[in-house]
Amino acid sequence: MKSRAASSFPDLALEFVRVTEVGAIAAAKWIGKGDAHAADKASVDAMREYFNKIDFRGEIVIGEGAKDEAAELYIGEKLGSGNGPLIEIAIDPLECTDSVANGRPNAISVIATGPEGSLYHAADSYMNKLAVGRAAADVIDLDAPVKDNVRKVAHALGKDIGEITVATLDRPRHEKLIQEIRNVGARVQLFTDGDVAMAIATCLRDSPIDILMGIGGSAEAVISAAALRTLNGEILCRWQPKDEKHIKRLNSAGITDFSKIMRTEDLAHGDNISFTATGVITGPLVEGVTFIPEAITTHSIVMATSSKTVRFIKTRHMQ
Ligand code: FBP
Repeated sequence: MKSRAASSFPDLALEFVRVTEVGAIAAAKWIGKGDAHAADKASVDAMREYFNKIDFRGEIVIGEGAKDEAAELYIGEKLGSGNGPLIEIAIDPLECTDSVANGRPNAISVIATGPEGSLYHAADSYMNKLAVGRAAADVIDLDAPVKDNVRKVAHALGKDIGEITVATLDRPRHEKLIQEIRNVGARVQLFTDGDVAMAIATCLRDSPIDILMGIGGSAEAVISAAALRTLNGEILCRWQPKDEKHIKRLNSAGITDFSKIMRTEDLAHGDNISFTATGVITGPLVEGVTFIPEAITTHSIVMATSSKTVRFIKTRHMQ
């Protein structure tokens, strides 16, 4: 066990879980109401308000958008009292906004944090992703054919290929990928939204997901990487801008090399990386918010590279 005295970096785990809890509770009130924007705004407002009560110096590096696009939790926004060392924050107040609007599974309120310079400042676009848990971390290759990755992961996990489950976002862009996974004999689990939870699920022993493959959001890649740092999983990513607008956005953020493969450590590097998520609607990672007259119950997961801990926190918020 690492000595707490070894680092003067503030341990704000309990404060950050309060932030995702309030975000999840606020969003959960909008489940199934068909209004994704209102659900997202409810999370944003609640999380921002709580963040600003914390005695720390935070700065959003991945958030709701650039300052001219987002009024709150915009990239560059400073949070907290302003005391202490700078803490970078990647935040998705509501990962799976549409799922909340439609009452579908797998929505979370989530943040990843780290010291200055630790989180990759990913502009908003897409990345091609390949994620696995620790046993298969060394065998995957984003340039290899799908069949080779599936076979190697099966071998590393000691499973038959037919027992392997690959999670893939249910999108027309993945038609060929899905066919290739099926052709090698593996099982495909299509999901409507939420590749953060699916990337992390590859690292959880009791989860049926062995591999995450396909194109998803770039912010989600960084947030997933923060969790995989503690879990010793691996996520390989490469920029996959969808159109000229995305290319321009990436270029103006100084990103011009779209061929480079980035690993977990490139997206969230160094010490003191944390990942905190609270379930809004039940998914593979955490259960959703439940309301009873005397209490609201939340389920959160908190990971920290400094202590190499994964904590599951069930909280009753008494009314
Ligand atoms: P939101 O947080 O914006 O709701 O994203 C949900 C999500 O499913 C992510 O998990 C995923 O990375 C991304 O959308 C995929 O983007 P798209 O829906 O455009 O295919």
